[in-house]
Amino acid sequence: MTTTVPGIPVPTGTPGDRSTDAREKDIMRFRTVSGPDLTTRNDAYLAWQRDREQADLWPYFRRYDTALTPRATSVSDTGVVTHGPNFGGQDYLSLTGHPAVLDAAHQALRDYGPITAGSPALGGANPISKALEAGLAEALHSDHVALFPTGWASGFGTIRALMHRRDHILLDKLSHDSLRQGAAASGATVEFFRHLDNDAVRRHLAGIRATDTKNAVLVVTEGVFSMDSDTPQLAELLGICREYGAQLMVDVAHDFGAMGEHGGGQLEVHGILGQVDFVVGAFSKTFATTGGFLATPSASAREYVRMFGGPQTFSSAITPVQTAAALAALGIVTSPEGARRRKSVAAVATRLREGLTARGLEVMGDVVCPVVPVLIGDTPTGRIASGLIARAGLIAHLVEQPAVASDAARFRMQAMADHSTEDVDAAIDILDSCIRTARQDMTHIIGRS
Ligand SMILES: Cc1ncc(COP(=O)(O)O)c(C=O)c1O
Repeated sequence: MTTTVPGIPVPTGTPGDRSTDAREKDIMRFRTVSGPDLTTRNDAYLAWQRDREQADLWPYFRRYDTALTPRATSVSDTGVVTHGPNFGGQDYLSLTGHPAVLDAAHQALRDYGPITAGSPALGGANPISKALEAGLAEALHSDHVALFPTGWASGFGTIRALMHRRDHILLDKLSHDSLRQGAAASGATVEFFRHLDNDAVRRHLAGIRATDTKNAVLVVTEGVFSMDSDTPQLAELLGICREYGAQLMVDVAHDFGAMGEHGGGQLEVHGILGQVDFVVGAFSKTFATTGGFLATPSASAREYVRMFGGPQTFSSAITPVQTAAALAALGIVTSPEGARRRKSVAAVATRLREGLTARGLEVMGDVVCPVVPVLIGDTPTGRIASGLIARAGLIAHLVEQPAVASDAARFRMQAMADHSTEDVDAAIDILDSCIRTARQDMTHIIGRS
């Protein structure tokens, strides 16, 4: 049974049938499965995914058929083509098509080829990667830098290497998967504190230090939480860590390069550049390529992570092309052009934020950063709206469980420096009308059930 809304038919089946499951079933139901045959026990999951695809309720694994330009083309596995404003990329300063970045990448390919000799431990470095380490050390005021093949690997590998069984890790409850997984794999005792709550950190630390003064405590947070567009009071948090003899790790994947007068991200904004014990980050947002890094004032910690961090010894190093693109991007980030681009992306994000708010939508977060999350709430409405926006010509990602809570689905809009005011206004129109339609549709469905 279907009801037609502008653009797509939305399934309105009764509870328990396949179309209702496609719209409403919680993905976490599939997270723990049992059964002896690993090749068949996920068949129910696949059937559910296929139902979602057929009903236009499956926003994942789309491909881009163009570069990450402000207007782009993306295509779903079922062939739905979306051409229009692109708020689904992470190229915050619009550097992926910058001539200096492309030239550097081409030159590196010609000079060193497409691959390194192996892991960083076994010949994976080259002159460009050494220059990139030095450039990052200077930009972050932190002498010792190690490169990783991805941002995910930098968070995971650093925590996994540094922390041991008797140690303690305190993570913000909304920490990125790479940080959680690194903590879990380390064998240390892991506790979570309420999102952004420095008083809670203090309480946890007091509790730990009341019984254990011999082992290390690592407090882990992020410069900007990209699902929520908010930021901790970092200077205060650092002070609390110092008070209790704990070390601080900040993942600056989303803010480094994109925020701060000189591109130093939230560490610069909060006046603590060079003071944080462990800074990890990713090139995949502002630095026009994939890869990641650890920056630390501790020479021994860096060497230890290089020897014992899994991705440093057992995974091939970031390629010459990646290092060259990141180095060229870093050059722009730290130049007056970088400052201009940061102003542009802030203006785009502000226009988007204000325009969506004026339409009565709930825009999350309180920092002006390139990420503009728009709260939907219930997951079924989000799924319907995501199908609608794909057909209406807006590229933007729905975020649902497990990335966020089941009643906190949202669109994560990501601004770019080169977005025009027309791109922003078109995105506001499409998002607003599709969310309204999805909400009306859900009201209609609930009324019938
Ligand atoms: C906070 C944070 N850390 C790490 C990563 C992983 O970065 P990458 O995609 O470059 O591996 C991300 C990306 O989603 C992130 O948001």
